[in-house]
Amino acid sequence: MAKAIVIYYSRSGNTKEMAEIIAKSMNESGLKTECKSVDKVKAEDLLTFDAIVVGSPTYYGHMAGPLKQLFDDAVGFHGQLDGKVGAAFSSAANIGGGNETTIMGIIEAMLISGMIIQGDPSGDHYGPVSIGKPDQRVRSQCVRRGQRIAELTKKLHS
Ligand SMILES: Cc1cc2nc3c(=O)[nH]c(=O)nc-3n(C[C@H](O)[C@H](O)[C@H](O)COP(=O)(O)O)c2cc1C
Repeated sequence: MAKAIVIYYSRSGNTKEMAEIIAKSMNESGLKTECKSVDKVKAEDLLTFDAIVVGSPTYYGHMAGPLKQLFDDAVGFHGQLDGKVGAAFSSAANIGGGNETTIMGIIEAMLISGMIIQGDPSGDHYGPVSIGKPDQRVRSQCVRRGQRIAELTKKLHS
């Protein structure tokens, strides 16, 4: 059976809240999903999942350092994430504060690893974004994204 992980870094809880909503939605959509802070994840752990979802606060338009370190550590088994489903989300302080460049940076690392990324023509196109604490709009985008990740992963990996 396919399985997934949502990995996040969060200091003040905004990204963590998004991670928990996405993971819950994935589980409710029939994809067994763990939700873990990046400090509880080792790069080798990534090999055991069919879908890997990564969420970061926007730090100067990029992912937070501990998440970048996780990707850098994965170079030891470069090529072995090929074909897994990937997705990303981010929380920032400001509109235009770099949410989408942060998501794109995560997605770039995933694409370089051979992962499969699905956009969204109707919801947040690149991945859910929040300004500060997730509001109702963000929460529903997280639920929607979780459903879409689960559907794609089950199609490709069941
Ligand atoms: C080092 C640092 C850099 C940041 N850079 C940005 C930024 O470039 N743009 C922005 O909108 N917010 C920026 N922020 C604000 C955070 O992205 C924002 O508060 C986010 O919601 C925090 O997520 P968290 O609650 O999961 O820790 C920065 C915060 C820190 C600590």
